[in-house]
This record gives sequence, C-alpha cells and structure tokens, in this order.
Amino acid sequence: MSGSAVPEYWLQQGVDRLLVDEKSIHARVCELGRQLARDLDDGRDVVLIPVLTGAIVFAADLMRAIPTRVRISMVSVSSYGASTTSQGAVRAGALPANIAGKHVVIVDEILDSGATIRLLRRELGALGPASLRVCVLLRKRREQALATECEMIGFDIPDEFVVGYGLDFNDEFRNMPFVGVLGEAGIRARGG
Ligand code: IMP
Ligand code: MG
Repeated sequence: MSGSAVPEYWLQQGVDRLLVDEKSIHARVCELGRQLARDLDDGRDVVLIPVLTGAIVFAADLMRAIPTRVRISMVSVSSYGASTTSQGAVRAGALPANIAGKHVVIVDEILDSGATIRLLRRELGALGPASLRVCVLLRKRREQALATECEMIGFDIPDEFVVGYGLDFNDEFRNMPFVGVLGEAGIRARGG
C-alpha cells in the first residue's frame, strides 16, 4: 500500500511520505462498497451520511462502488483543538431528516480521537434508523480511535498527521489523490 515515491510537486509542498497509494485506495473502496451492498440488501432504504468536508472524496468514490440504490445526506461537524490534533466535535447545521426505519451509514475519512463518530452515533441513533454503522477510510493506531465503535475500516495507519484524499491541513491537500504524511516543515510553512 505504500513504498512508492511521493510525486515531486507534493514533495515540494512538504509531504514526506506516501502512506496509502491511489491503487490501494481504489481497491479497498470497491471492497467496502460491495460489502455495504451485501450487508444492507433487505429492501430498506440505505442512506450514506458523509461528514463534511473531509469525507467528500471518499464518499464520492464509495457511493459509486455500491451497485444498489443509495441516498446521500450530508452532515457537517467541526473539530476543535490545535491544528494537527482534534479534541472535540460540534455539529454545524442540521441533522439529516427522514432517516427513521432506514439503514444509515456514517461515512468519514478518518477516525482519530473518535469525538466526531461518538457525537454522530448518539445524535443519529436517536432518530430511529433501522441500523446504524460507521465506515471510515482510515483509522489511526491510537488508543482513543481503537476504543471507538466502528464497523468498517479501510486501513489502519500510524498515529501521524496525514493529508490527501479529502484530508486537509488549513484546507489544503484535499485534492492530493493519495494519503501521505505532512512533515514538520510543511506544517511550519503553513503557520502550524
Ligand atoms: P476525530 O478526532 O476522530 O473526531 O476526527 C475529527 C476530524 O479531524 C476528522 O474527521 C478529520 O477531518 C480531522 N483529522 C483527524 N486526524 C487528521 C489528520 O491526520 N489529518 C487531517 N485531518 C485529520
Ligand atoms: Mg472529518
């Protein structure tokens, strides 16, 4: 999944190491999509709930890897804390309407402190879905992430600050097509 070189442009931007390459992401997202279609195949509506903004890239690929009918409803959650560590989560904007009796899948790009997922499980679970599961592309190998209930995980990764495939630093790098580690120099150059 890694080992390839970071393309020159991204290297210059401070991305030190490639963690998950495009091919590995694509293959795993296809598996996750097929698994969701299999698991949720009982005729009930399936609603994917991507967490803005970071999950947009993952969700766009995941929904196209599901060969059956799905609906999409976004939710917005802000994290607070220093720029490269997350410590808490607050919802910004409304909860999705009409999810009672439906299969709900929370889609997020990374499980870090777990605050976002815990908040959404509580709030969406209270709306009476037929089932509720969480699908994340990445989970950091840190205690709080490992202790957070999560049904589907693309990749377990080291506890480092990563960017790309929707993940940002100061709103940059979301368009980088692979996941890589942003080094100290790249963080400092952006005021972090
Ligand atoms: P939480 O700490 O699990 O609630 O994660 C909150 C959010 O922080 C994630 O959905 C990401 O948007 C962001 N985040 C966590 N770790 C990273 C990282 O390594 N790079 C970029 N964003 C991150
Ligand atoms: Mg996020």
